Amino acid sequence: MKEFKIAVLPGDGIGPEISVQGVGVMSAVCEKFGHKVSYEYAICGADAIDKVGDPFPEATFEACRKADAVLFSAVGDPKFDNDPTAKVRPEQGLLAMRKKLGLFANIRPVQTFKCLLHKSPLRADIVEGADFLCIRELTGGMYFGEKYQDNDKAYDTNLYTRPEIERILKVGFEYAMKRNKHLTVVDKANVLASSRLWRQIAQEMAPAYPEVATDYMYVDNAAMRMIQEPRFFDVMVTENTFGDILTDEGSCISGSMGLLPSASTGESTPVFEPIHGSWPQAKGLNIANPLAQILSVAMLFEYFDAKEEGALIRRAVDASLDANARTGDIQVEGEKACSTSEVGAWIVEYIRKA
Ligand code: IPM
Ligand code: MG
Repeated sequence: MKEFKIAVLPGDGIGPEISVQGVGVMSAVCEKFGHKVSYEYAICGADAIDKVGDPFPEATFEACRKADAVLFSAVGDPKFDNDPTAKVRPEQGLLAMRKKLGLFANIRPVQTFKCLLHKSPLRADIVEGADFLCIRELTGGMYFGEKYQDNDKAYDTNLYTRPEIERILKVGFEYAMKRNKHLTVVDKANVLASSRLWRQIAQEMAPAYPEVATDYMYVDNAAMRMIQEPRFFDVMVTENTFGDILTDEGSCISGSMGLLPSASTGESTPVFEPIHGSWPQAKGLNIANPLAQILSVAMLFEYFDAKEEGALIRRAVDASLDANARTGDIQVEGEKACSTSEVGAWIVEYIRKA
């Protein structure tokens, strides 16, 4: 028996709707396996700006810090996107959470589902069987380096220190050891000093992992390789900005952004969240795909070494796809699309009966 204290951060847009489905699955699995679970709900993003003027309030930080894990959904609201003068933005809440919880390693798996290959904008024979992890550094680089902006000049600083690079590369090498022992270090070492330090440190560390085949790839080349030959990759590790861009590209391989979960881990409580955003246009319509959120719950269990629990969720998701219990973004043409809550309920029912 395990005991899980979960901080739930539903956030904005479709966040609250998919959050309900994630929590439902979490509870069903805990009931099935005799685990105890408790939830503490906390505000973030635009919702928290509206309520208390801060996208990651102290009380939310406290709830996250005390929890075993955070189940995060999405933040973002169009009323801030089109206002470059806004002093606070929902996304700052996400960045504050990453920084304050020391979540330096963002694990984003890219996988395909056989029955959804036709949804990918790439040819099925290219994407079939693609299965890799992007490990994105999450608390350094341009996102957090010194910034300046006036009317005529602006800059962001892509600062990385040796300890920051070493700890994320270590995560990369360790995942490669657990998988197919192939690590690709993605950088722009032909132009950027920060990238040259990454590459130098990776070369220093590689001999300690003799079983891992380590290669180095410029980010522009990696962006091309990912769509030409996604099966080439096993584990890739890269800096914050490159990882942001490459993981959106990676999500197209699967066919829908609504399918990809992620885990952010580091010094404090780990966070599990879909890689997609808050899709404000769909807010309240009960049409958003809850699978990325539900698969984030699978990653949560796996993080705590509850492998069977994670595997059951993955089986339930596969079964729901086979049974056409799918939201509109991935439904077979001509078949009726299910709502967010119908897909969630289908998966909970499968778990109960398993
Ligand atoms: C992501 C998102 C965020 C990022 C935004 C919302 C700040 O795009 O998690 O990939 O850039 O990191
Ligand atoms: Mg992104």
